[in-house]
Amino acid sequence: MTEIVKIFDTTLRDGEQSPGATMNTGEKLRLAMQLEKLGVDIIEAGFPAASEGDFDAVAQIAGKLKRTEVAGLCRTDKPDIDAAWGAIRHAVKPRIHTFIATSDLHLEYKLKKTRDQVLADIKKAVSYAKTLCENVEFSAEDGSRSDRDFLCRAFEVAIAAGATTLNLPDTVGYAIPSEFAELVQYVMQHTPNIHQAVLSVHCHNDLGLATANTLAALAVGARQAEVTINGIGERAGNTSLEEVVMALHTRSNLLPLTTNIQTEQIHPTSRLVSMITGIMVQPNKAIVGANAFAHEAGIHQDGVLKNPMTYEIMRPETIGLSANKLVLGKHSGRHALRDHLKNLGYDLSAEELQVVFTRFKALADKKKHVMDEDLEAIITEGVLRTHE
Ligand code: KIV
Ligand code: ZN
Repeated sequence: MTEIVKIFDTTLRDGEQSPGATMNTGEKLRLAMQLEKLGVDIIEAGFPAASEGDFDAVAQIAGKLKRTEVAGLCRTDKPDIDAAWGAIRHAVKPRIHTFIATSDLHLEYKLKKTRDQVLADIKKAVSYAKTLCENVEFSAEDGSRSDRDFLCRAFEVAIAAGATTLNLPDTVGYAIPSEFAELVQYVMQHTPNIHQAVLSVHCHNDLGLATANTLAALAVGARQAEVTINGIGERAGNTSLEEVVMALHTRSNLLPLTTNIQTEQIHPTSRLVSMITGIMVQPNKAIVGANAFAHEAGIHQDGVLKNPMTYEIMRPETIGLSANKLVLGKHSGRHALRDHLKNLGYDLSAEELQVVFTRFKALADKKKHVMDEDLEAIITEGVLRTHE
């Protein structure tokens, strides 16, 4: 039987921790609405105790979304938990997400706490969060480098205190897939009452293995994946939503798992994130890179014309790309430009379209055809600058 994997999107929290990815409240709201359209199950909207701006953005998102769970991140101390709850309390489905590190390295150098003190903090924080909100997630930061039995003990304490989701992060992207899958299995076998909670994973990409580690964990029983659009996040980033979702979609013959994601919204969401953050996607990025569905070699082009499946494992339409290739030139009007940009994944406001249209016309006067790359450059230069 096919099971659902919950998609927990943290673009607005861990993604925003990418150097240079700071978003203002308006941009966060716009992205949150698009994430709801995309069909993510949970949106981690921010870290409310971090700043007044973050608190406001999370509160506005919580008040606006109609279906999606809204999570607010907090450490295990009361003021943090209160801030998170204050910001998310009006959400249709609020979730308090509290975390503390469990590795000896973090305990000794960062927290300066003993294991027993950390267990006491978990118990106190989760129990308190539970008095505010039914839906509580606990994360064991640096879980993949923690002593396995202590990690299980931390999860046991969190479950007993009322946690409904337990998250196992590979905080520094150190794990490799076989090892991470084994750790997930160990935790499932050695944590009492683990089945009372959903087991989640949260992988970073320092070794380029975040997607592989996430899939390995899902294959052995994790049922929530924490991800970001375009894989943005701390350092080398987080597991990318589009890679996990499309791997499950494309290889459902091997993994009987599915998600609630509307895959045709993947490309527009990716473009919106690039536009808002100013972080463009590398051309050869899986799923959403400009070249992900481009065929250059003659043999490949010939094969694709005969049957796309010769060199395409998924259809571009599935992720919301139009196969339509309209040529744009100096005679093209605003509507053609707007439609073409929409097909490229850019859903611009009237004001943004005006900026792009003026620059497009100026370029079209000098150039026979304006290519998609030219438009991408215009958007980066023109629209992003207005967001700065
Ligand atoms: O990477 C990490 O450990 C985190 C936690 C706060 C979940 O982002
Ligand atoms: Zn993280």
